[in-house]
Amino acid sequence: MLFSILGFASLLPLTTAILPSPLNPQHIFSNPTSPHDSTFRIPTSYESAVLARRILHLTPHSTLSTIFPSPEHASEQRPSGLGGMPIGLMDYIADCEDSGNPTILAINIATSFKNVAAGSNISLSLQWVPPHLPDKRIQSEGPRTAYSAANLPRFSLLGYLEKIDEAKGAELKECFLDTHPDSKYWLPGNRIHTSEWVRLVVQDVYWVGGFGDRAYIGWIDAEEWRNVTRKEWEDVRLPGEHKGWKEWAVQERDWEL
Ligand SMILES: *[C@@H]1O[C@H](CO)[C@@H](O)[C@H](O)[C@H]1NC(C)=O
Ligand SMILES: *[C@@H]1O[C@H](CO)[C@@H](O)[C@H](O)[C@H]1NC(C)=O
Repeated sequence: MLFSILGFASLLPLTTAILPSPLNPQHIFSNPTSPHDSTFRIPTSYESAVLARRILHLTPHSTLSTIFPSPEHASEQRPSGLGGMPIGLMDYIADCEDSGNPTILAINIATSFKNVAAGSNISLSLQWVPPHLPDKRIQSEGPRTAYSAANLPRFSLLGYLEKIDEAKGAELKECFLDTHPDSKYWLPGNRIHTSEWVRLVVQDVYWVGGFGDRAYIGWIDAEEWRNVTRKEWEDVRLPGEHKGWKEWAVQERDWEL
């Protein structure tokens, strides 16, 4: 089946009449309740899962969010009263298993992994950062120095960390080092830091694809997330992967599922 997830408006000539910015302010952060309230065809959660899996593959960094344990351990060198407080910290990830479960090199003394060891849940948030600036902006006035990040995909993977055994870790090492050559200094077995290979086992996915009149905003079924094939995420393109993109288009080309 051929789906076009091009915004309907992007098929029309580029006139200011089709450059509302944005179309319906009330639908910026949520999908319209009726499809008739949108000029665009909003992608399905599965199509969004495909885009998200591509973002996972192309994005080497993620913010890991965990919660400080409560009760607190007196031995910890940190302000008191932080039990239950969430903290988000950037860490390296790589899509080495192509299963939807990102690979992480966990350093035992790092806050995120200490919190997990103390029983915290964990989520990873990723955002799509286009490599190129758009040729056509949502707002036609103003300097063309950036894009509307509010109209770009971001998502959170919720789940738990699972230890990757040594044999599998040895298999994934080259992939991880391809993405993060500097991490060779803290590979498992190094003399300074205790580290280990872990995967985030994804249980839930929350996706904000962009403005709600043209992008899906909501939960993606974990089975849909896992079902996405390499061919599917290889065949889609994200906004701004290539020069000359138009900021208001959800997607730059047609794609097949
Ligand atoms: C982790 O999340 C689950 C819900 O998925 C919740 O039931 C549990 O209490 C959470 N654990 C902690 C330590 O907050
Ligand atoms: C995942 O794929 C399997 C096998 O093709 C299919 O039976 C199942 O319905 C899919 N699940 C979802 C949520 O798309």
